[in-house]
Amino acid sequence: MPEAVLRYGDKELTLPVKIGTHGDAAIDIAKLRSELGLVTLDGGLANTAEGEGAVSFIDGEAGKLSYRGYPIEQLAEHSSFLEVAYLLQYGELPTKAELEAYEESIRRHTLIREDMKHLFEAFPHSAHPMQILASAVSALASYYPDALDPLDEEAVDISSRRLIAKTPTMIAWAYKYRVSQPYTYPDNTLDYASNFLKMMFSVPAEEYLPDPVVAKALNLLLILHADHGQNCSTSAVRLVGSSRSNIFSSVAAGIHALAGPLHGGANQEVLEMLQELYDSGTSVETAVKRAKDKNDPFRLMGFGHRVYKNFDPRARILKKAADEVLDALDVDDPLLDIARELEEVALNDEYFVERKLYPNVDFYSGIIYRAMGFPVDMFTVLFALGRMPGWIAQFRELMSKPETRIFRPRQLYVGYDYRDYVPIDRR
Ligand code: SDX
Repeated sequence: MPEAVLRYGDKELTLPVKIGTHGDAAIDIAKLRSELGLVTLDGGLANTAEGEGAVSFIDGEAGKLSYRGYPIEQLAEHSSFLEVAYLLQYGELPTKAELEAYEESIRRHTLIREDMKHLFEAFPHSAHPMQILASAVSALASYYPDALDPLDEEAVDISSRRLIAKTPTMIAWAYKYRVSQPYTYPDNTLDYASNFLKMMFSVPAEEYLPDPVVAKALNLLLILHADHGQNCSTSAVRLVGSSRSNIFSSVAAGIHALAGPLHGGANQEVLEMLQELYDSGTSVETAVKRAKDKNDPFRLMGFGHRVYKNFDPRARILKKAADEVLDALDVDDPLLDIARELEEVALNDEYFVERKLYPNVDFYSGIIYRAMGFPVDMFTVLFALGRMPGWIAQFRELMSKPETRIFRPRQLYVGYDYRDYVPIDRR
């Protein structure tokens, strides 16, 4: 095994270097503190791997993403979201019989408990859907107390199926409550995406047939969002899971992390940014100039990525899909034109080129969601719906490893030295 040698003062420590499938290498620093009295300092954990993973792989320099070895482009073209959910969790593409059985098991769990309506209805109508979804997922732990042990594979498996099956219903019912429309129950004669669309957009007074173009586009969007290595929200799921908290609580933590504007919340921010540019008549040149100005908090939302230093392959697929979906739905969205112009100007600007800032998955997804009829503040819950199998697969991978320990990072303390308490009358 290759090694790295670290010299500190008069000491020298040889550390093993582990090599990943694609040649990426990691120094195992398990003995660093005990042998040299050192810990590492790595803001944002940009250079730190918490552990070994096999669910997905991102080649940031090449702009490649694969799930269990299958390139995202091939899954996007040939697969279904439930097939990808199976692949991410069980590691292999299912046979026809395995997929049919999995789809049937998901259909069996699409209903949620009637009294969950009280949970939705406890929120103000103005509540953000991500806040409602996180609470609803947390609540599932209370409804299924028999399947909470994270080390019991059978309990985790049934809880995983419940999460995949019930998240569309919870999202749709939270939406129906917020718009004061009647809840629509799941229709298990429909495929996953069509069932969700019907729960979202049908009303009792009208017949509703899900548009196959919209269902196909949603299936694609869910596949593209399904997993992405140790991103912020997945790390939150694994960190909470490492304390042996149950899968519902761990995923709820991931939903809260995803809600942040620097992460999944960016898809909503992108649309609001494009809308603001359109409404104010601001040129894309001005927007790019503002994004480069350190004194201006404005950022090009949907641009940049911690790992991709090339095009995000998902953005490449979505850029093409945006045209196709808007054409098929006969939608002419001026914001798409602004997005394309913004991309063109930014990709030719030294600031973005130098920093290797490219459009990421959030840059085009919102334009497609909007064309499909989703309100802007639902975009991030749609990201969460897609990421659900990835969060679950990463949680299951962590809990399946006997060597898994509770995450408990160190810090470099730079606060006050020891000092004596001062009585209040002497302060
Ligand atoms: C997702 O991790 C994942 O895999 C996430 C995700 C997933 O599938 O789970 O891919 C989903 O979260 C995509 C990212 C969505 N977020 C956004 O689009 C928000 C806008 N982007 C940025 O805020 C930023 O690019 C991040 C948060 C995505 C990455 O932040 P980093 O890695 O900490 O990079 P940084 O902020 O240190 O930026 C490096 C430089 C800085 O300039 P300098 O200090 O070197 O001069 O690039 C600049 C930044 O100011 N920069 C930007 C910019 N993004 C980075 N400048 C203008 N506009 C931007 N969008």
